[in-house]
Amino acid sequence: RILILDFGSQYSQLIARRVRDSGVFCEMFPFDIDTQRITDFGAKGIILSGGPESVHAENSPRINDAVFDLDVPVLGICYGMQAMAERFGGKVHASDIHEFGAATINIDGKSTLTDGIEDAAAKLNVWMSHGDKVVDAPQGFDIVASTPSCPIAIMADDSRHYYGLQFHPEVTHTAQGSALLGRFVHEICGCAGSWTPDNIIDMRIEQLKKQIGDKQVLLGLSGGVDSSVVAALLHKAIGDQLTCVFVDTGLLRLHEGDQVMQIFAENMGVKVIRVDAEELFLTALAGESDPEAKRKIIGKTFIDVFANSAREVSEQSDGKVIEFLAQGTIYPDVIESAKSHQGKAHVIKSHHNVGGLPDDLAFELVEPLRDLFKDEVRKLGITLGLPAKMINRHPFPGPGLGVRILGEVTKEFADILRSADAIFMEELERSGWYEKTAQAFAVFQPIKSVGVVGDGRRYAWVIALRAVETVDFMTARFAHLPYDLIETVSNRIMNEIAEVSRVTYDVSSKPPATIEWE
Ligand code: XMP
Repeated sequence: RILILDFGSQYSQLIARRVRDSGVFCEMFPFDIDTQRITDFGAKGIILSGGPESVHAENSPRINDAVFDLDVPVLGICYGMQAMAERFGGKVHASDIHEFGAATINIDGKSTLTDGIEDAAAKLNVWMSHGDKVVDAPQGFDIVASTPSCPIAIMADDSRHYYGLQFHPEVTHTAQGSALLGRFVHEICGCAGSWTPDNIIDMRIEQLKKQIGDKQVLLGLSGGVDSSVVAALLHKAIGDQLTCVFVDTGLLRLHEGDQVMQIFAENMGVKVIRVDAEELFLTALAGESDPEAKRKIIGKTFIDVFANSAREVSEQSDGKVIEFLAQGTIYPDVIESAKSHQGKAHVIKSHHNVGGLPDDLAFELVEPLRDLFKDEVRKLGITLGLPAKMINRHPFPGPGLGVRILGEVTKEFADILRSADAIFMEELERSGWYEKTAQAFAVFQPIKSVGVVGDGRRYAWVIALRAVETVDFMTARFAHLPYDLIETVSNRIMNEIAEVSRVTYDVSSKPPATIEWE
C-alpha cells in the first residue's frame, strides 16, 4: 500500500486514482497528519503531492520527518519535490511567474524511475503547473530530465529511492504519467498489482464478517449506485443478517420501486422492506412551493419514515437488536471531509441517508465503500452481479421528482412528470444518447399553455427536457441532442400524455444555471 500526503494541489485526488488504476491500494491524507498515523499506515512507498504554496513562504507546509525515517521510497511531485529538495539541502528558486501547461522535457540521465520509459522517447510530453522550481539538486540526487526553463524536471537518488518530478504525472496530459507512477509503485516500491474488483470484494467480505459478527445490520436502500453496491456486498458477507429499507416517497421515477424490489428481493434474495410513504410525503409537501423548504420537508419526512421502520425492524427481529447501520459513503466524501477538517462532506452525505436519526436509535456505522472512488464502486457492482443498467444510471437527486416539479408538488403533477420522464429516457436509450449524456430528465412546469388537438383546443401543462454533458457536475453544458430526437420525444409526450400541451428543451449551461431547476 502507498501513502499519499496531500499538500493541497487541485490534482491530488488524481494521484490516488492513477495509483489505484495500476492495481495498488493507496490512501491520501493531509500532509500534517499525526506522525503515528504515518508510521502505522504500513506504506511500502510515499507520494508527496503538489500544492499551492512556496517553500520560501513563512509557515509553508513541511514534510514530516517520519516520512524519511520509514526508509521506504518517496516520490515528490511539484511542491512535494521542492519541499524534499529543500529538506535535503537543495536550492529552490522562488518565482512569481507560473509555468503552466504542456511542456516537453529532455531525458538527460538515467534512473530506475525512468528506466524503460526513456527508451521509448528521449523526450516526454508533460503537464507543468508551478511557480517555484528546484535549481540545485540536493547531494545524492542526479538530474534526470530538464527543459530550457526548468533545469531539474526530474531528480533521482536511486540509492535511497527518493525521486522528484516537477511536472504532474497524474494528469492525462502527461503522456507517460501513468507509466511513471506505475514504475514507482511496482518496480521501486515493490507493490503487487492485486487491487482488482475480485480481490477488493473478497477483502471487504472478510472485513465485514469480522466487524459485524452475528449482529444485525440495517441499510437504507435508495436504488442508487452506492447503496445498491453496499446492499450486494453486505448480502454476500452476512446474508440474512442484513435488512434493507426502501422508502417509496411517491417522488421516484416510473417503476423505480418495482425494479429495486425485483433486483434485490426477488433475484438476489435480500431482505427488503418496502415502505409505501407516498401519501405521507405528499401530505407533508402540500401547499409548499419554496424549493429549500421542500427539500427540508422531504429530508425530514425521509428520516421519520426510516427511523420508524428501523424501530419496527428492531422490535420484530425476535429480540435481536439492530446494532449496525450501513451507509454508502465513498472516498471523495471522506477526502473532502478530511480537507475541511470539519467533517463537512460527511454531514452532507449523511443528510441524504440517515443524518438526524433520533438518539434512541444508537447504531455503529458500517461503510464498506469508504475508501473507494465512484468508478471502483461501479466495477465492484458489476462484479457483484448487479445489472449494468442500474450501475451506469444517471445520478438522481435525493429529493427526487420533488425538485423537478416546480412549485407545489401534487400527485397529479408527479404522475404526469413520471410518464414524460419515462418517454424521454426510453428515446434516449433507443438512440444511444443516454450514455452520451451525464444526466437527463424531464421537468414539470406548473403553467398552462394552449394547444390544438384535432379540432379541439387543449389548455394543458408544459414539460421541459433537460440533458447535460459534464464530468464533475460542477460545470455543465446542455447536451446538443439531435433535433430529430427532441422532435420524437416531444411528439410522443404530447400525444401520449393528454395533460401536456407543450414541450421545451432547456438550453442553459451551468453556470449560471444549475443542472436541476430547483
Ligand atoms: P445542481 O442542480 O446543483 O446539481 O447543478 C448538481 C448535481 O447534484 C444533484 N443534486 C442533488 N443530489 N440531493 C442529491 O442527492 C439534492 O438535494 C440534490 N440537488 C441536486 C443533481 O441531480 C446533479 O447531479
